[in-house]
Amino acid sequence: MWTGVTAGKTDPLADAFNSSIGFDSRMYRQDIRGSIAHAHMLSAQGIIEPSEAERIVSGLTGILADIESGALPIDTSCEDIHMFVEQELTARIGDDGKKLHTARSRNDQVALDLRMYLRDESETIKSLLKDLCRTLIETASQHQETIMPGYTHLQRAQPVSFGHYMMAYVSMLLRDLDRLGDTVRRMNVSPIGACALAGTTYPVDRESEARELGFDSVGANSMDCVSDRDFCLEFMSTASILMMHLSRLSEELILWSSWEFHFIAFSDAYTTGSSIMPQKRNSDMAELIRGKTGRVYGDLMSLLTTLKGLPLAYNKDMQEDKECVFDACDTLVMCLKVLAPMIGSMKVFPDSMKKAAQKGFINATDLADYLVRKGLPFRDAYKISGRIVAHCIDADCVLEDLDLKTYQTFCPLIGEDVYAAIDLMNCMQKRTSQGGTSVGSVEEQIKQALELLKND
Ligand code: ARG
Repeated sequence: MWTGVTAGKTDPLADAFNSSIGFDSRMYRQDIRGSIAHAHMLSAQGIIEPSEAERIVSGLTGILADIESGALPIDTSCEDIHMFVEQELTARIGDDGKKLHTARSRNDQVALDLRMYLRDESETIKSLLKDLCRTLIETASQHQETIMPGYTHLQRAQPVSFGHYMMAYVSMLLRDLDRLGDTVRRMNVSPIGACALAGTTYPVDRESEARELGFDSVGANSMDCVSDRDFCLEFMSTASILMMHLSRLSEELILWSSWEFHFIAFSDAYTTGSSIMPQKRNSDMAELIRGKTGRVYGDLMSLLTTLKGLPLAYNKDMQEDKECVFDACDTLVMCLKVLAPMIGSMKVFPDSMKKAAQKGFINATDLADYLVRKGLPFRDAYKISGRIVAHCIDADCVLEDLDLKTYQTFCPLIGEDVYAAIDLMNCMQKRTSQGGTSVGSVEEQIKQALELLKND
């Protein structure tokens, strides 16, 4: 279709190398939708006849229906999806089909299609992300009084509720949701009408074409319109951060499902066995989510590297954008789809969590705080609490086991009320500060999160 000055035939290997239809055919809906809007604009501007536009639009509508129904297989001998649709249109309606590409280039066409494709995918991702948030919130509300150790440096640190823990991930995911919204906002600028690079001599109406396609505005500079792939990079950055969050969560779930922790168990639906060890329950799904995170980072790095040395405007290198972006989309969608029901169906073992919380002196800070309430400066209280912990380690017991007499050998200010002060549930419930782990604080976090989900 592009044989202009080039009369000779291209080598079949070169054709195969040059072709992108193997991966860009998935944009057929966006391509056809864009072409219909283009025909409307051409006719409204008097660039083609209304009757010609009508035949183009009905031809395109037929092609869309036939691709959807499977009646029209995509001809992979075409260079890309744009060529395929145009070729099929001309085969169906004759010469009118050849007018569609007036005041357009594949350079602005592909930029348009990809923006629309990613915009659509982002909607899917947003809704999956919200499903995941709701699942985590549901789990959180069931476990507001389930005590577990919170860790720093992977050392038991202070008691938190499992609900509080889950809500930490909701906070991360809500930022991802917001970031995706920002990404789409900047993505939603139309490049169509930039043509090859310099704009066009035809009296096009870029604004109306953009509006018909649901864009918020029109790209300001035609050269930028056809050479910009920031929207892909932003999308993949957002996807990478989101995957990093999913990966951290997966890592925790993997650890927690081990016998060493035994905090949770995945349902059989999300567990695999070993081909040799009959006792094994492997958390393959969570491991794969963790693993696939590297792949999405790779997609981002790949396109950043492809773009870094490119002069303006379009260069064929840019055809390499699509496989990275599609891979990032597909991977992310799969991970989100698997993770939500995996969390929704996992078993939580509050008793194991409690047992872990009872070891590790995670109430030592509370003992120090108790001494502060008795009038000691925090630094002195900290030292005394440390000495008591050291004593317990030597005696192989926990703070709750010491009798009052022993306590008083460390500090005469200690009274019977010390036991309430170091009680794990009390320790948790006293952390009523905003964002803290008490039931009331977590309740507030849940309320806020649900509000954000509703408004988005
Ligand atoms: N398949 C091409 C791509 O994905 C479409 C744009 C081709 N433009 C060109 N001037 N060869 O980037």
